[in-house]
Amino acid sequence: MTDAIYPATRHDGSIDAAEYDRRYAAAARDPDGYWREAGRCLDWIAPYTQVKDTSFEEADFRIRWFGDGSLNLAANCLDRHLATRGDQVAIIWEGDEPGETRHVTYRELHEQVCRFANVLKAQGVAKGDRVTLYLPMIVEAAVAMLACARIGAIHSIVFGGFSPDSLANRIQDCDSKLVVTADEGCRGGKRVPLKANVDKALASCPSVARVIVVRRTGADVPMNEDRDLWWHDAVAQVSADCAPEPLNAEDPLFILYTSGSTGKPKGVLHTTGGYGVWAQTTFRDVFDWREGDVFWCTADVGWVTGHSYVVYGPLLSGATTVMFDGVPNYPDHGRFWETVDRLGVTIFYTAPTAIRALMREGDDWVTRHSRTSLRLLGTVGEPINPEAWDWYHRVVGDRRCPVVDTWWQTETGGILIAPLPHATDLKPGSATKPLPSVLPLLVDAEGKVLDGATEGNLCIADSWPGQMRTVWGDHERFFQTYFTTYPGRYFTGDGCRRDADGYYWITGRVDDVINVSGHRMGTAEVESALVAHAKVAEAAVVGMPHEVKGQGIYAYVTLNAGEEPSEPLRTELRQWVRGEIGPIASPDAIQFAPALPKTRSGKIMRRILRKIAEGDTGNLGDISTLADPGVVETLVKERVG
Ligand code: WT7
Repeated sequence: MTDAIYPATRHDGSIDAAEYDRRYAAAARDPDGYWREAGRCLDWIAPYTQVKDTSFEEADFRIRWFGDGSLNLAANCLDRHLATRGDQVAIIWEGDEPGETRHVTYRELHEQVCRFANVLKAQGVAKGDRVTLYLPMIVEAAVAMLACARIGAIHSIVFGGFSPDSLANRIQDCDSKLVVTADEGCRGGKRVPLKANVDKALASCPSVARVIVVRRTGADVPMNEDRDLWWHDAVAQVSADCAPEPLNAEDPLFILYTSGSTGKPKGVLHTTGGYGVWAQTTFRDVFDWREGDVFWCTADVGWVTGHSYVVYGPLLSGATTVMFDGVPNYPDHGRFWETVDRLGVTIFYTAPTAIRALMREGDDWVTRHSRTSLRLLGTVGEPINPEAWDWYHRVVGDRRCPVVDTWWQTETGGILIAPLPHATDLKPGSATKPLPSVLPLLVDAEGKVLDGATEGNLCIADSWPGQMRTVWGDHERFFQTYFTTYPGRYFTGDGCRRDADGYYWITGRVDDVINVSGHRMGTAEVESALVAHAKVAEAAVVGMPHEVKGQGIYAYVTLNAGEEPSEPLRTELRQWVRGEIGPIASPDAIQFAPALPKTRSGKIMRRILRKIAEGDTGNLGDISTLADPGVVETLVKERVG
């Protein structure tokens, strides 16, 4: 395979190839010394003397960075910028309707955060308490995050697309005291009943004493007098002064739930110092941030990308960040580029799934807008196929803008593998090379480290500051999930190829996790939603290739005796899963299966189900260990799609 190469262009003041090499070598040789310096990108209240204190070995497992330093991340995002950039725009909010825009300066954002921090305090929220945010992409979401950070409360954002049940599970798992929501959200001209969902969820969440409601659409929502408060009333009653709480570097900053291959979603916990350092440095270096830039990451704050690259990374850096409360195809397929022109966006960061969806609509939606302000493009969330990369580079970027394909995970806090735009030659489809301090290893199934050009399971050999610290409430699960498959190493769950130039090409998950439109979905979660339906006896869920989503959800469903497969039942099951988890979990294909292929010990052979879903039925491998090999023939014959 020959890989096209787009040579890095030089830019004065940006990191070049020699500087990248120097930093990478320095961080590998002496991570402690490297981060002792680099950690100064934040303002510390009590400077750290300790830097790296980590071990992935079971006997002395620990991950601590800057462990004796204290700081406040909200103050780092706001207060320290006031003297130099108080009147600069911190957030440009762009609503669902084009031109429904708000500019919020650093000074204004600071005041709003201080006020809301005082509201939280007045409601009895203290350091270490959990606050769940279930909000649209509105300025108040960033305000609420930073207000929590200011007083040392731990925010847990639940994406507004999740169902009441999913919300309830996430509230219960971390015992939130308070929920912040809005009357409704707006997405592509449709309304999302956020407050009504909260009301449903809270029926099973006794820990929540207070709900604060932002008025977004003005919908008439029932307010529970003993429990619910309007945001605008609450902030009017408190002072605009609130001193930032000094926090230890290892005090928790946020919990974010993410799906794994087994069990319920895990509460990924990030702490203050290391996460802050990682969010700021990766933002600055990978996006080559410069004064005057308008940075637009299209992700929702309900995902980690929104945490690190809509809010924390940009605001820590003193940048101008766009918060977009809409969707790429509303009111039409030119929305992104129309908005880029109107807001003067210079750096644009989105997901491959959005690129593929827009690519299908034709170039005209792009080329009718000028896009001359753009200088850098980025992608995240899933592998980008070279065709989509090429379209993004050629049509959207007019061949002028480097494309940074950034590989990372909720667990990693920020980007780990990505090009630096003026240092790294680009190859479409490759996340290219690791950032300083990131030590990727490819291992085979037995854990043997593979050298040179090869393919294997992607591990990281040593800690970096932005790494997650634990699974909320279950430290053992944290260790088990990430550090026992290949002892002494962090296992990412991804497969990966390394080429002769040392470039990394992520091939996708190697566990029972599927990546739907850049969002992680555990197959086990969808299965348990399906079997919760009264007519379903058994379900097995696998990924299948999907032209736009990257992967789609393919569900094999065995019905209870006496139930008949039908089109209406298929629709009902799809709706059911949407209701149980949320629209993102809705199966793309449901195959009614009289039986599932099982080994004699009763284990479902998912390998075979995956192959059938992929349409790769000519090569099912060894099926002789199946209890009833005849099952496979029926499944192949009745394959959907
Ligand atoms: C999984 C993490 C990182 C924020 C969004 C997703 C896949 C992510 C890339 C990329 C290939 C990618 C991996 C990873 N992934 N970025 N640039 N190229 N794959 O966060 O929900 O925690 O999912 O997304 O499979 O493990 P997440």
